[in-house]
Amino acid sequence: MENWLIYRGQGEPDPERISRLPAPPRWRRFSGRPLPDEPPPIDQSTTRRLGDRAPLPIQDDEALQLINAALYLRRPLLVTGEPGSGKSTLAHAVAHELGLGRVLQWPIVSRSELQQGLYSYDAIGRLQDAQLAHQRRTGGYPATDTDGAGRGDGGEAADDDGIGRYIRLGPLGTALLPSTRPRVLLIDELDKSDIDLPNDLLNVLEEGTYRIPELERLADRPEHRTVRVLDDDGRRVPITEGRVTCSAFPFVVMTSNGERDFPAALLRRCIHLKLEPPRDERLAALVQAHFGAGADEEYDDLVRHFVESDDTGDLKLTDQLLNSIFLTQHAVREERVGRNEIADLLMRPLDRRQQR
Ligand SMILES: Nc1ncnc2c1ncn2[C@@H]1O[C@H](COP(=O)(O)OP(=O)(O)OP(=O)(O)O)[C@@H](O)[C@H]1O
Ligand SMILES: [Mg+2]
Repeated sequence: MENWLIYRGQGEPDPERISRLPAPPRWRRFSGRPLPDEPPPIDQSTTRRLGDRAPLPIQDDEALQLINAALYLRRPLLVTGEPGSGKSTLAHAVAHELGLGRVLQWPIVSRSELQQGLYSYDAIGRLQDAQLAHQRRTGGYPATDTDGAGRGDGGEAADDDGIGRYIRLGPLGTALLPSTRPRVLLIDELDKSDIDLPNDLLNVLEEGTYRIPELERLADRPEHRTVRVLDDDGRRVPITEGRVTCSAFPFVVMTSNGERDFPAALLRRCIHLKLEPPRDERLAALVQAHFGAGADEEYDDLVRHFVESDDTGDLKLTDQLLNSIFLTQHAVREERVGRNEIADLLMRPLDRRQQR
């Protein structure tokens, strides 16, 4: 069974393996021509979450198969599960193991809109800059240009020259830039969104393309056919005729704590993975990843404390265990505070704490 697995959850980076991913099914092929740039390397937000090493498989077999299904089918992965079950970290683990570079992150809040994920256009900043430049040249103000194309004042060249400086692609917009290797995009806590966002998102992810009307309007002028804009990695990337179409479909992880249901149309187009909270060997692997080989045995009492009180049905978070171990390493040695006291202090079930 192992053979078909591209992502194996083993923690050791193997950037060559992604090249063994077969071509997408015909209905998930996209026509963008890849840009030459490699993605930026993974950053601290990944290493912070994953720790130094992950010597054992962190995901179970079923989870591995579903993650790989999403990679093969070029479908977004919808990950649900309790807080602390490792939903957000999953995106980082895939990027790290397959060498897919920095994880693009879009944390969703109730105000999030599709547009922000794709790109933003700073029309006011551009207008102000144009006015200042005009003032400097002539000592007066240009006619106001509200369509952002700089057509109204006759000073077009200086104004249009910089439109790319006022457009910044968001995480979704950057993930869809054409590339040979898929980028990893984490759309975190999608269940916090406004009711329209999942459906809006669905269209873009289905088509793998989006338009930037501010650039489309300029595309008939040869000097503005291709404009360089800033992407989410802070790089300047060329956009031609105001349209972006992906090449390799990004590996999209959408997480949800199950605070609300998603439309059936979205579920149909996703691979759904329900993560169980880490227990037993996954928990041991996780402790070793953050505290080094053998740490699971050294802190066996804390791990057991964590797992045993789990039977009460109260919500406990992996982070509470990690925090307890960290504190034990310092406080117990220096201040003679018992390990159990620390465990009791930090590993309180969530419900009890909220009642205070
Ligand atoms: N594969 C892994 N390797 C190392 N650490 C991990 C791994 N998966 C999860 N963790 C650790 O477990 C903790 C919880 O993981 P994470 O934040 O991904 O959970 P979550 O399901 O997204 O939680 P929430 O719903 O609260 O956002 C983090 O501190 C993370 O560092
Ligand atoms: Mg999370």
